[in-house]
Amino acid sequence: MLIDDMPAIGFGLWKISPDDCAKAVYEALKVGYRHLDSACDYGNEKAVGEGIKKAIKDGLCEREELWVTSKLWNTYHGQEHVGAALQRTLDDLQLDYLDLYLIHFPIALEFVEFDVRYPPEWVFDPRQDTPTMKPSGVPLHETWAAMEAMQDSGLAKHIGVCNYNTGLLHDLMAYAKRKPEVLQIESHPYLTQEKLIRLAKQYNIVVTAFSPLGAASYLQLDMAAAKESVLNSSVVVSIAARLNRTAAQVVLRWGIQRGTSLLTKSTGIDRMHENISLFDFELTEDDMSAISGLNINRRFNDPGDFCEGAFNTFYPIYN
Ligand code: A2P
Repeated sequence: MLIDDMPAIGFGLWKISPDDCAKAVYEALKVGYRHLDSACDYGNEKAVGEGIKKAIKDGLCEREELWVTSKLWNTYHGQEHVGAALQRTLDDLQLDYLDLYLIHFPIALEFVEFDVRYPPEWVFDPRQDTPTMKPSGVPLHETWAAMEAMQDSGLAKHIGVCNYNTGLLHDLMAYAKRKPEVLQIESHPYLTQEKLIRLAKQYNIVVTAFSPLGAASYLQLDMAAAKESVLNSSVVVSIAARLNRTAAQVVLRWGIQRGTSLLTKSTGIDRMHENISLFDFELTEDDMSAISGLNINRRFNDPGDFCEGAFNTFYPIYN
């Protein structure tokens, strides 16, 4: 438990197809996950809502035991769009409040009407010969003020940001009336993000790591090579053998033990169990340092790389 009642392990919903998603959510809740990490952009929020509804109906859990996060998409940064975007997410999830609403990226794109395309994704007009992103110029402080209004209304119990760097975090803390409570970032042993995590802690912000297994999240997207998997690193493999745990459990335990919460995702029930069974063993200080020592600042999820290839738009945010 990190803030109030946010469970340290969340079940991530990115890349689960709408057809499989209701079942995956239901199974995850059955396995014992109580924290779900959703987003408009994942395109599966209706199915997430169905999974939650069925689990509650079958008595697996109560709404109040769940921690449901979702994220404001880039096209809804204008203050007049934030409320409508949150309401659409709530309608799809069949919920009347979120536990946490996050700004998905510090990237503001031109608004796309809900009935033109939902989710709107990255490019402004996919029918163009060379579709591109269309930045809207909405400043992040405007979006944050609208996020604060969502918290004031009670529709989002907590608010925060994703994919912010140290500079954006300092800036946000300077103007926020309601402070961000969570920062969600990519982090794993090949991208340890020590300074950013230390700064977030200094500001009393909980850090949630997405893609905590590193390359595993990106193989199917051709954004990583199998040889980049930290699960094959000899350091991790030898610790796992000594502790009689899997390599994934060792990497996830490292994430928990350094004080971050984690999003794990698997559509396989065995792995769902494996990824949440992290609290009956500990890594030594030497194990922790050896795993942290694997850092090579390898970022797999970088708009500065993928936007140019996929959306014909150069849009770096980290450098
Ligand atoms: P699968 O769903 O087939 O189990 P993301 O972090 O983007 O959600 O993706 C996690 C990736 O890691 C998925 O491809 C998932 O595959 C894989 N994965 C999840 N848990 C484990 C595990 N315990 N061991 C190895 N791979 C895993």
